[in-house]
Amino acid sequence: MNNSAIGVFDSGIGGLTCVKELVKLLPNENIIYLGDTARVPYGTRSKEIIIEYSKQDIAFLEKYNVKMVLIACGTVSSVLVSNPLFEGTSISAYSGVIMPAVHTACAVTKNKKIGVIGTPATIKSGAYGKAIHSVNADIRVVGKSCPMFVPLVENGYTGRDCEVTKMIAREYLSVMKQEEVDTLIMGCTHYPMLKDIIGDIMGDKVNLISPGEEAAKYAKTVLAYNDQLSDRQEPGHLELYCTDSVSMFSENVEAFLGKNINGEIYKCNLTV
Ligand code: DGL
Repeated sequence: MNNSAIGVFDSGIGGLTCVKELVKLLPNENIIYLGDTARVPYGTRSKEIIIEYSKQDIAFLEKYNVKMVLIACGTVSSVLVSNPLFEGTSISAYSGVIMPAVHTACAVTKNKKIGVIGTPATIKSGAYGKAIHSVNADIRVVGKSCPMFVPLVENGYTGRDCEVTKMIAREYLSVMKQEEVDTLIMGCTHYPMLKDIIGDIMGDKVNLISPGEEAAKYAKTVLAYNDQLSDRQEPGHLELYCTDSVSMFSENVEAFLGKNINGEIYKCNLTV
């Protein structure tokens, strides 16, 4: 048993897709979330910068003595594959989003054609494709970077009827339709916030995989296996940190998690 919080971070609000699932699966756990909203997006930056920012994100969560860190960011998870960011920290349990998403995708595909959409850094790394092939070398992987999706989500262009987002999504997803993938990994944690639009374009026969949700399920399994779940009886508390304006972040949090979260939102500075 361990009553410390679970730490979750992302460049912005995308990691809330992981938090929402964590709250559903583990309602008595405390969660500390960091969204580096002042520096979002990460996915159009160089590997070196992404690593530097991620180290600061992890150092921030480490101060709260968290029992596990979830990298709720496809971009950081992709870069992390070859850069062990946790070496020298006190954090022993952590996970990115790649393997949890890939295991589910490989389990549900029938025609063995999996699409992966992600940020430019994620697609360039090939991390999802390599992970898929480590599970099943016969699966065909179709990758597509979608650099406009993160700014659209951060600015609230997520509604099912939003014409500008629909137009861009049709363009990005046309290759997935041509290739007839039956499973699509929404490889950046922001993208499930566009699930309605993506689902309408892909059709209801295509499985949509949310990496944040899959990472949350994985965290539950790991914590249970390590006997580290909380024994708290009351609902867990949510502490949310952002690095830019609290009011902008709060709007996004409310829109996605609802008005009545059991917690508070604060601004923090990662560089002092
Ligand atoms: N949610 C992040 C991801 O999963 C967004 C990256 C970005 O900031 O570009 O990749």
